[in-house]
Amino acid sequence: MSIAALIISYLCGSIPFSFLIPWRKGIDIRKTGSGNVGGTNVLRTLGPKWGLLSITLDFLKAFIPILIIRLIFGVDSWVPYLSLIALVLGHDYPIFLKFKGGKGVASTLGGYFALSPILGVIFLLVWIFVVLSTKYVSVSSLLGLLITAILSFFWNLKMGITYTLLFFLSLYRHRSNIKRILSNSENKADIIKILKK
Ligand code: G3P
Repeated sequence: MSIAALIISYLCGSIPFSFLIPWRKGIDIRKTGSGNVGGTNVLRTLGPKWGLLSITLDFLKAFIPILIIRLIFGVDSWVPYLSLIALVLGHDYPIFLKFKGGKGVASTLGGYFALSPILGVIFLLVWIFVVLSTKYVSVSSLLGLLITAILSFFWNLKMGITYTLLFFLSLYRHRSNIKRILSNSENKADIIKILKK
């Protein structure tokens, strides 16, 4: 049963919405913008309508299965936490895209809302504050994940360990962004302007 939960989570995470939506419009998202198979890159490439749809679907593909797994196994079990890790690994290394996926931020957030909605809200507040003040989406995502990983230890140890692992996974997936930040060449995104498009 728990192995089935992990496999189903990995497969749900592997559904590459941020690839499929631009692909239907004749765009290979891996070859435009940052090249990332993620909602931010769809937002940047196709504008708010398709970008927000990609982000929402990447969020829901985590929120729905992890909520169901949480209801079946309970929050005291390791299964919902390991399932979230399997799901984000599916997003980052999708079987349907030769294991080349995104950075897992929207899917991690979907898992947060399924397991600890308050931490999801805190992530969003940090993300909005940092993106509005720096215009760096990658910095906002990483800071949001770091702060919520630290806070999650106050919820419970399993959550703390899981969210810390998810932060380090995302840090690793953002390594090209980190290189660009250090060389002052990271893409800036004026979210307000993009949303008004
Ligand atoms: O959620 C991914 C974001 O943090 C960075 O995306 O496309 O700017 O590399 P991107």
